[in-house]
Amino acid sequence: MGRRAAVIGAGGGIGAACMLAFAAAGWEPIGADLVADDALRALDVTDAAAMDGFARDIGPVDAMVYAAGTVATTPIATIDFAVWRRIMAVNLDGAAHAASAFARNMAGEGGAMVFISSAAGVRGESNASAYSASKAGLIGMVESIAAELVPVNIRVNAVAPGNVDTAMLRDVARGIAEAEGRDRAEVWDSFARTGAARRLLAPEEVARVCVALCDDGFSGVTGATIPVDAGYLLT
Ligand SMILES: NC(=O)c1ccc[n+]([C@@H]2O[C@H](COP(=O)([O-])OP(=O)(O)OC[C@H]3O[C@@H](n4cnc5c(N)ncnc54)[C@H](O)[C@@H]3O)[C@@H](O)[C@H]2O)c1
Repeated sequence: MGRRAAVIGAGGGIGAACMLAFAAAGWEPIGADLVADDALRALDVTDAAAMDGFARDIGPVDAMVYAAGTVATTPIATIDFAVWRRIMAVNLDGAAHAASAFARNMAGEGGAMVFISSAAGVRGESNASAYSASKAGLIGMVESIAAELVPVNIRVNAVAPGNVDTAMLRDVARGIAEAEGRDRAEVWDSFARTGAARRLLAPEEVARVCVALCDDGFSGVTGATIPVDAGYLLT
């Protein structure tokens, strides 16, 4: 039987690219997102029981990529803590639900998990306290779980993308433009000028790293956070 991979958040820019990258590498990808469509199962990652049900229904997989996420511009002095809670629920609680459910799914055979953190989780960014905290928390969770699951042959890694051209980044541009009274196109252009490479990343560039990390070729890599940021964190 071929290798099977669950992709959570598979309807998003990076998640959809992961689905295609797994298929191109000969895997069978199984996708889930908040809203089902012809190709995706419905799953609210904030619901631990629903995550368990998803992991059980699809049967044993060899890999799981957690690409669900949400973002908001959150100036700390005026932050709405309902928004803080929502970001934590999707980015961090949901990731823990996935790690727990898929640790059980992969028990016996082993496998690989990849969680999509962010450069903002490695180096905090202004007006992004909730998002940066959730993504830094994810890196801590990945390191802990990676150590815990070494004996059962499950590798656990994170990737930390820079600015990737997806719907989420367009939402961020809108939020910053509103918070700072700037023109949205000017904010977008500024994203494309960040990092040593001075460009946005394509979702496929992140997806290829996620798929590679799941491959046995990376059997020696666990507990790592790989920047996929075209040099953003170097500047
Ligand atoms: N785009 C970037 O610049 C960038 C940079 C660094 C990290 N990331 C991270 O990459 C991941 C993918 O982001 P993207 O850029 O593809 O954004 P996206 O908005 O295109 O995709 C996010 C997906 O998560 C899904 N999702 C949100 N809440 C959910 C829930 N409760 N249950 C199930 N699914 C839910 C959405 O429906 C969406 O399909 C996110 O974790 C994001 O934080 C993105």
